[in-house]
Amino acid sequence: MENPDQLRADTLRDIGAAASPEALESIRIAVLGRRGSLSLAMRGLGELSPDERRTAGAALNTVKDDITAALAEAGERLGRAARDARLATERADVTLPVSIGAPGGAEPGRIHPISQTIDEIIAIFGEMGFTVAEGPHIEDDFHNFTALNIPPEHPARQEHDTFYLPPRDDGSRMVLRTHTSPVQIRTMLAQKPPLRIIVPGRTFRADHDATHSPMFHQVEGLVIDRTTHMGHLKGCLIEFCRAFFDVDDLPVRFRPSYFPFTEPSAEVDIGCSRSGGELKIGAGADWLEILGSGMVHPQVLRNCGIDPAEYQGFAFGMGIERVAMLKYGIPDLRTMYDSDLRWLRHYGFVPLDIPSPVRGAL
Ligand code: DAH
Repeated sequence: MENPDQLRADTLRDIGAAASPEALESIRIAVLGRRGSLSLAMRGLGELSPDERRTAGAALNTVKDDITAALAEAGERLGRAARDARLATERADVTLPVSIGAPGGAEPGRIHPISQTIDEIIAIFGEMGFTVAEGPHIEDDFHNFTALNIPPEHPARQEHDTFYLPPRDDGSRMVLRTHTSPVQIRTMLAQKPPLRIIVPGRTFRADHDATHSPMFHQVEGLVIDRTTHMGHLKGCLIEFCRAFFDVDDLPVRFRPSYFPFTEPSAEVDIGCSRSGGELKIGAGADWLEILGSGMVHPQVLRNCGIDPAEYQGFAFGMGIERVAMLKYGIPDLRTMYDSDLRWLRHYGFVPLDIPSPVRGAL
């Protein structure tokens, strides 16, 4: 074999020149592998006399140690270089203003149909002079039921499938609000009439199927003034339905109904046709119920310190998922909360299309 010093010099030179982890590996195999030059030289030691073997063995062992160390060091150097090169190509400059939607640019996020629908509802009522009010999701019995003229034994409490929280020290239980109506109470207790508010927000009932979700959204409306009457209720809601569904001559029907917090009460239906299995909003033979409404019950006004001899008003409540599904043809309510990106890409809205009360674009 070549002399050990020569082998060391040659191998270290090759290692120094190796440009990739693969090149390094072939050097290792050629020298230290089972048939590598150094391994063969070590095997050859057996043919030497004991004295010669000791000196030559020691020399070969130092060579092996040096080469092993050089391989490790070069391996680390090449690994680091490969990593740096990869990081450089995979680098994302998050400060770069990528034009959204452009080829190679970021994919635009979508506005969820519920957010879009709430924006549209706010834009329409905003034009009519309503402001947006909010209230807590966790309510007490007074605001969610009692002040709304739903006394303790009233059947409406069962119909609401209420989620109750564990009892407090005084035995009373808070509830996840079953409707947005408690915000009527909060507003009337906090502000003096005239009032004109809408309340979009989350509501909760223990119910889950294709048309019910345990968490859903409603929008509440409340108008209180000295001369507000049923004609205002009708005009306001007819106008809303036509603007929201974008059908100028949409038939709207008021059907007598019952709610504890309004008297008289009416449910509102819009015209549609279901011919050929396809639902079409607009004039047709059929009706779809979309909201509840009525003149605020004098007892509710009194519960809020408002004199019913001086003030009166109307209120309404509407399920947002329901009208969003009708307007945008979404067949199953549960998909709204699956967070499935494919669904969002299909039913979601491009951010810049958001209608606004300022632009009035709908
Ligand atoms: N709170 C009712 C519900 O959740 C909806 C409703 C009906 C609200 C009539 C109103 C109203 O303000 O006047 O079913």
